[in-house]
Amino acid sequence: MSNIKMNIGIIIGTTREGRVGPQVGQWVKEIAVLRKDANYELLDIKEFKLPLLGESTDKTGVEKWNQRLMDFDGFVFVTGEYNHSIPASLKNALDSAKEPWNNKAAGIVSYGSVGGARAAEHLRGILGELQIADVRTHVALSMFTDFENWSTFKPQSLHLSNLNEMLDQLLVWSKALKSIR
Ligand SMILES: Cc1cc2nc3c(=O)[nH]c(=O)nc-3n(C[C@H](O)[C@H](O)[C@H](O)COP(=O)(O)O)c2cc1C
Repeated sequence: MSNIKMNIGIIIGTTREGRVGPQVGQWVKEIAVLRKDANYELLDIKEFKLPLLGESTDKTGVEKWNQRLMDFDGFVFVTGEYNHSIPASLKNALDSAKEPWNNKAAGIVSYGSVGGARAAEHLRGILGELQIADVRTHVALSMFTDFENWSTFKPQSLHLSNLNEMLDQLLVWSKALKSIR
């Protein structure tokens, strides 16, 4: 079991035009793949064109989303902070699946004026209900010091060790939880 490589999905939580989320997701992926300890893939919620839960009779996007989530043992949630919480796009994507989330692990990378801390803490409450075990270490990026003009991502080097520590914890819990699924 211990030699099996975990599959980790890096979920980009924002979908608005002009979002910075993809830059942050790409940074997470680039650092993660260098570790060679798991399969890391980007999962962009925007690509699934998820309708607001229950509003469409076309289930194609929701089915694809659920199917895709089944491929992963753990997740990194990359989230901005909207009105002191997670963006509606991420909440809707979380609500749009159930079993594919259960008994998996997650780490959080957030960004905002105070590191997206309020969004990250709200996210932890939601993850508990979905039976996703979120690891302690959290990467909190500042819109003031990790971005230029709130638009170009230039992370300070201090975040590197935190990101790797978060991934270390995520892999251990992803492996542990695979044994009960
Ligand atoms: C609707 C909305 C609400 C926001 N509310 C907050 C907030 O409460 N706290 C915060 O730190 N930043 C807030 N911001 C600023 C975001 O942190 C910033 O725009 C960030 O780039 C959003 O992520 P995105 O570019 O990936 O969409 C808000 C932005 C939007 C669009």
